[in-house]
Amino acid sequence: MLAKTAAAGSTVLHPEVLRLTSSLAPDRALIREDVVGSLAHLTMLARGKLIPAESAAALKAGLVAIGRDAAAGTLVLPDEEDVHMAVEAELGTRVGAHAGFLHTARSRNDQVALDLRLHVREVSGAVLAAVGGFIGELADRAQAERDTLMPAYTHRQRAQPISAAYWLLGLAAALERDVAMIAFSLDQTDSMPLGVGAISGSSLPIDRELVRALLGFARLTRNGLDTVGDRDFAIDWSYTCARLLGHASRFATDVIDFSSREFGFIKLDGEIACGSSMMPQKKNPDVFELVRGKAGIAIGDLVALLATMKGLPGGYNRDLQEDRGPLLACGRRAYDALALLRLALPRIQIDAERCRAALAEDATQSTDLAEVLVARGLPFRSAYKLVGALVRRAQEAGVTLETMTPTMALEVDAAFDQATIDAARVAGSVARKRTEGGTGPASIDAQIEAARGVAEVAIARASALPTLDALLRSLEEAPL
Ligand code: ARG
Repeated sequence: MLAKTAAAGSTVLHPEVLRLTSSLAPDRALIREDVVGSLAHLTMLARGKLIPAESAAALKAGLVAIGRDAAAGTLVLPDEEDVHMAVEAELGTRVGAHAGFLHTARSRNDQVALDLRLHVREVSGAVLAAVGGFIGELADRAQAERDTLMPAYTHRQRAQPISAAYWLLGLAAALERDVAMIAFSLDQTDSMPLGVGAISGSSLPIDRELVRALLGFARLTRNGLDTVGDRDFAIDWSYTCARLLGHASRFATDVIDFSSREFGFIKLDGEIACGSSMMPQKKNPDVFELVRGKAGIAIGDLVALLATMKGLPGGYNRDLQEDRGPLLACGRRAYDALALLRLALPRIQIDAERCRAALAEDATQSTDLAEVLVARGLPFRSAYKLVGALVRRAQEAGVTLETMTPTMALEVDAAFDQATIDAARVAGSVARKRTEGGTGPASIDAQIEAARGVAEVAIARASALPTLDALLRSLEEAPL
């Protein structure tokens, strides 16, 4: 039991208390972060001559070896309260009394804040690259589906014709905001906490600025009291993941609906369709249901973090250790959902025939027809009412606006001559749209280009982030 002295009344902890309070199990996901942080801290202590050079060298060798064993999956950590103490205890086994120098001017309070920030940065990079990749793939698929028409829905009722490209680019537009949100979350994470110690800093001449530079952070945290109790970066990251997953989830619902017989717009390739253990005929969209399911749990992660924080007094409180479950899970969930959607996108086929039939059946060109009349000088509200009457007449006769006879149309109003009806045919509806941000061809081209730009920026930003592997290598090489 390293983190305990006689002052606590006993130097050992009841074994069951240790078991029930230890965070070592979830902390194992932070081992590389912990080693990287310790190497930076050690480098600073050594350069400031705050610990003997011989101990610094031994500690460095020990930490590097622990890092390698962790990467190889052969590291067995001793039973301790958390990964920080486990690493220190393991160092004790490997390098003996030198291990006692490592925790100079450091507390687990600032150490765990650092590990979590390093972790969030690493996972954010992976998610950012995945979102960027997916946006690029959506743009490519949109390019291929420029001329595929389908209905857009409001209130889950057929509304207006759009191109399938527009549907796909709708998701890309939402993900573009997620790219911005990840950048914001990364910025919130970009403050280096180490050096504030347990809460108020150290009387030793440590160099926080050096540690910051070694670990590639933008700035130092401002105030130690705030630093050790701050998990805003975790909340921001969790919100980022929950919102991103929310976008993925809504798209998944569209795919689930569209692939049902009731819509029939989408066919799933066999490779991504699941079956039923009992009903031999089934072809199920489980992949998309799981994306939607992950979004629900991600909201739970966010609420868990917010609730954990809200009543805490200033400074560090052990409640914070409970952040591990939601925080370590949310990035994985976002990444996995993106991976599923990226696998699925090229494996969904749009049935253009069924889409076309749905468009015609429900007079989805009605607004276009009203706009033809508006272009001839009618007030919109009058045109709107006339078209409503025409649709009503078609419904009663069991025909569509395109199959109704010219006589029937003229009976409703003299405005509905054949030229007017033809000017608003479903097939030309999308091509006629000219609004920026609408479904027309020029707007689709602009949206595809914009999406490709966002994808490029996101991927570049992700690859510019310092990774744990790169930090490990540079700290190994950095002189003490
Ligand atoms: N296991 C703790 C956590 O993960 C580390 C910090 C513990 N600090 C303390 N003073 N007990 O948050």
